Amino acid sequence: MDAVVIGGGVIGLAVAWRAARAGVSVAVVDPEPGSGASHFAAGMIAPVGEAEFGEEAVVALNRDSASRYPSFIAELELDAGRSAGYRQTGTLHVATDDDEQMALERQFRYRQELGLPVERLTSRQTRDLEPGLAPSIRGGMLVESDHQVDPRAMVATLLQACSRLGVQIHRCQGSLRIEGGRVTGVDLDGGETLEASRVVLAAGCWSGAVKGVPDEDIPPVRPVKGQILRLQGAPGMISRTLRGGSVYILPRDDGRVVIGGTVEERGFDTSVTAGAVYELLREARALVPDVAELELVEASAGLRPGSPDNMPMVGSAITPGLVMATGHYRNGYLLAPATADAVAGVLAGGQWPEATQPWSPSRFRRTAGVRT
Ligand code: GLY
Repeated sequence: MDAVVIGGGVIGLAVAWRAARAGVSVAVVDPEPGSGASHFAAGMIAPVGEAEFGEEAVVALNRDSASRYPSFIAELELDAGRSAGYRQTGTLHVATDDDEQMALERQFRYRQELGLPVERLTSRQTRDLEPGLAPSIRGGMLVESDHQVDPRAMVATLLQACSRLGVQIHRCQGSLRIEGGRVTGVDLDGGETLEASRVVLAAGCWSGAVKGVPDEDIPPVRPVKGQILRLQGAPGMISRTLRGGSVYILPRDDGRVVIGGTVEERGFDTSVTAGAVYELLREARALVPDVAELELVEASAGLRPGSPDNMPMVGSAITPGLVMATGHYRNGYLLAPATADAVAGVLAGGQWPEATQPWSPSRFRRTAGVRT
């Protein structure tokens, strides 16, 4: 075995699939692949809409990953023989009152100054695009280039592609094995050892709890709770992702809609609260009144892997052979292609791309580490 990936979420599976494609023999260790944040995520591929003031460098990396999506998905679907649910229908940001209209104008100008592809729309133009929007909508900002993927379809597709390319999936816990100061593999719960000179830590918000990781390499990830709703009943009610207030509403190919998402610092708590469900539905109904007619089929909570600066940790750890791929926070699906390409390239014998230097885990070390 050349490499073992601990964690079978979208990041771990994308790394494993990409590495296998590059000729690396690879295994994934996860008791229940795709059951963590990847299962609950909305799947927005939205580097322009999610651009934050003062985070220009982040925007460039995020856009680079989004630009990889079409070929990433085409290759993935070819390898898996099934759809990953990638939709390129764009994202429409809307304002429901004067305050939101002013905030939207600031967001629009900021993106224009950065040269990002955004279009400002009047109330009429906004509702012409999405007739299901409330008549009170004051205006909009269209981001044609912000897309989405169906997370559950994508994980199933990654698992299928991995299986077809010979990636071993071990459905159990594993602990890192270190001998002579370097990584030599992963000890599985059942007693078996997978020998490998490279191990990728991609266990999302649980990455800090993987056994055997030396103290100096424990990544500073924390869980950031997101509550999210899934509804069904009116295919075609909306045709693109909508954002307004503090919610987003995504249409799925199967007619479902997804409404998200809270951002809560509550440790490993995954309870669904009445207050959050109420607020998500109240805000979603203010955007699209017919949401109230849909059947609520799922209310759930996932744990995003947050890092101290909300950027992922992708790069070499201090321990030789250990690679980090975690801390993707709100952008796991968005950043899967760039992360997988970078890590798979290193597993195949290459160097870290210069562009991913800002993701290096060394930025959180007290003494700067060497990137190998
Ligand atoms: N990317 C959206 C969220 O994390 O809620």
